[in-house]
Amino acid sequence: MKRWQRAIQDNYGTPTIELVSGKGSVVKDSEGNSYLDFLAGIATNVLGHAHPAIVKAVSKQVSTLGHVSNFYAHPNVLNLAEKLQKMTGDKSARTFFCNSGAEANEAALKLSRKTGKKRVVATKESFHGRTMGALSLTGQPSKRNPFKPLIKGIVHVPFGDSKAMKRAITSKTAMVIVEPIMGEAGVIVPPADYLKNIREYCDQKGALLVFDCVQTGMGRTGDWFGYEYSGIKPDVITLAKGLGGGLPLGAMIALGSASQLFKAGDHGSTFGGNPVATAASLAVISTIEKGKILAHVDEVGEFLLTELALISGVSEVRGAGLLIGLTLEKPKAKEIVKRCQSLGALINAPGDSVIRIAPALNVSLKEAQAFVKIFTQAVKETTNV
Ligand SMILES: Cc1ncc(COP(=O)(O)O)c(C=O)c1O
Repeated sequence: MKRWQRAIQDNYGTPTIELVSGKGSVVKDSEGNSYLDFLAGIATNVLGHAHPAIVKAVSKQVSTLGHVSNFYAHPNVLNLAEKLQKMTGDKSARTFFCNSGAEANEAALKLSRKTGKKRVVATKESFHGRTMGALSLTGQPSKRNPFKPLIKGIVHVPFGDSKAMKRAITSKTAMVIVEPIMGEAGVIVPPADYLKNIREYCDQKGALLVFDCVQTGMGRTGDWFGYEYSGIKPDVITLAKGLGGGLPLGAMIALGSASQLFKAGDHGSTFGGNPVATAASLAVISTIEKGKILAHVDEVGEFLLTELALISGVSEVRGAGLLIGLTLEKPKAKEIVKRCQSLGALINAPGDSVIRIAPALNVSLKEAQAFVKIFTQAVKETTNV
């Protein structure tokens, strides 16, 4: 902890444990303690730690050609873009690769300016990243206020409120950005028809619809993309987190006429589509497909939703697939996270009364059972119920 404070800026606070190795859903710290990793690098390590397919693909690529830049093509970047196109079910899909979720949303914001319009509608409490453009889209005052002035022309409406969204979208709106399920806000699921309604309003006013699937993409909800349950398609999908299976990789996928807005020179990234990160991503996707892991996500997710709701002291459990949020009867989330850590499980608390659970997608039912046991004990000991 002292070394961290002496060498690293204070923006995260100081971690209390140092992780040194991992296998599947188990990580070890530098003192030899093991933990069930039910946060997975914040919903990122979709195949857990040290998955053989990722290790093989990355090792092979880094020993062949580590980086080329976008002055040159590379088989991995082409294969991944084609794969993502298939996954969207839309041949018009064109991908821009970057390295993080914030960058993917920055790219979407810049793309929307190419429509000739400037206004944007986003949602309150949403999280789209920390760079100035992405932060301007983010709807959390505590994160925005210290950095004002942010980009003008962006309004935030209550999440899940179709009427407020309808009122906010005008013929001057360039884009609307929404998380299909709000992740950082505490796993908030909107009403069933919300995404469909927004699609309709965007079509009426000629606005681009952007779904930020950074947290809800890559199988996290049991579908490739978190919006699929709605039956509609956006104009832009942003991805990161699980896309690289633990390596830094982001993507902004544009569909239809939006896919033609960027012209040469409009945007770029030195590392975007890097051969090693895209090798990891290709390994992630083929492993999920071959292992039928999306069906597994539904099964383990259902188990967790049911079991966690039975714990005394938990007032609500919500989510989809393996993105689960719990509201506690008492604002003891931070203490519960700490107690879970000492009992051998890693999770996080996006709010004082809210816990988020996002394990690897290939976590076993047995590991989920072991986690429920630890979590139940932690809630009991912390809230004395
Ligand atoms: C929905 C969503 N969008 C964007 C981001 C930002 O991603 P990154 O931290 O990779 O910039 C996050 C990160 O938590 C997120 O959950």
